[in-house]
Amino acid sequence: MLDMQDISRVYRTDLVETHALRGLNLSVDAGEFVAVTGPSGSGKTTFLNIAGLLESATDGRYLLDGVDVNTLNDNQRSRIRNEKIGFIFQSFNLIPDLNIFDNVDVPLRYRGFGGKERRQRIEKALEQVGLAARMKHLPSQLSGGQQQRAAIARALAGNPGFLLADEPTGNLDSLMARQVMDLLEEINANGTTIVMVTHDPELARRAHRNVQLLDGQLASPDLFARPAAADDVDLQPVA
Ligand SMILES: Nc1ncnc2c1ncn2[C@@H]1O[C@H](COP(=O)(O)OP(=O)(O)O)[C@@H](O)[C@H]1O
Ligand SMILES: [Mg+2]
Repeated sequence: MLDMQDISRVYRTDLVETHALRGLNLSVDAGEFVAVTGPSGSGKTTFLNIAGLLESATDGRYLLDGVDVNTLNDNQRSRIRNEKIGFIFQSFNLIPDLNIFDNVDVPLRYRGFGGKERRQRIEKALEQVGLAARMKHLPSQLSGGQQQRAAIARALAGNPGFLLADEPTGNLDSLMARQVMDLLEEINANGTTIVMVTHDPELARRAHRNVQLLDGQLASPDLFARPAAADDVDLQPVA
């Protein structure tokens, strides 16, 4: 589903060049739940942004569902991003003066769905994350854990095949973090591929596979090669 070969990303300013990724090789199969760890500055966010088509690699090849993303124009990239990929961020990124229903609606409006379809998708997503009774609340009227669940509903409402999460529990206490992780596991068990950056070793252990970034590369490439049989994924216990 995601196949990166020799991906580099260089940020250039007048004064400095930062090599955020240096020849990263990483594949993620459909149905996997992969946790990405690594020190601050090791390139985790850059990797997710490239994976999610928010940014382009400076060099290397990235195939998403078999499509070489380098061959896509801006419109095609946005369309694929909106249709296939959901994002979750550490800081939730909800719009403060929209209620939860309208927050989940934002990307659906952007995609041009009609009112009835949007309502159905929003209600289903909010039900899935346990917030059906909170639709009319503003983000500030919810706990951090609930806000992150609302952000997950916003990502899910688009029906993405692929969920990218950048330290989704970084602003949550450990109980709420575990609840968000329970929800991500359930979403993965329902068929959504998940790549999650996390600092929390306990949460990382719950993923199918851990990869560690160090200075823009895999920490030990041999350990993290693609699993021998992709259908192993189906044998993972469901929490
Ligand atoms: N937009 C940017 N402009 C310049 N440098 C950047 C930018 N984004 C990230 N970097 C640099 O790239 C490196 C990797 O950053 P990042 O991917 O955010 O790491 P992580 O998420 O692992 O903390 C860091 O040295 C960071 O300062
Ligand atoms: Mg980061």
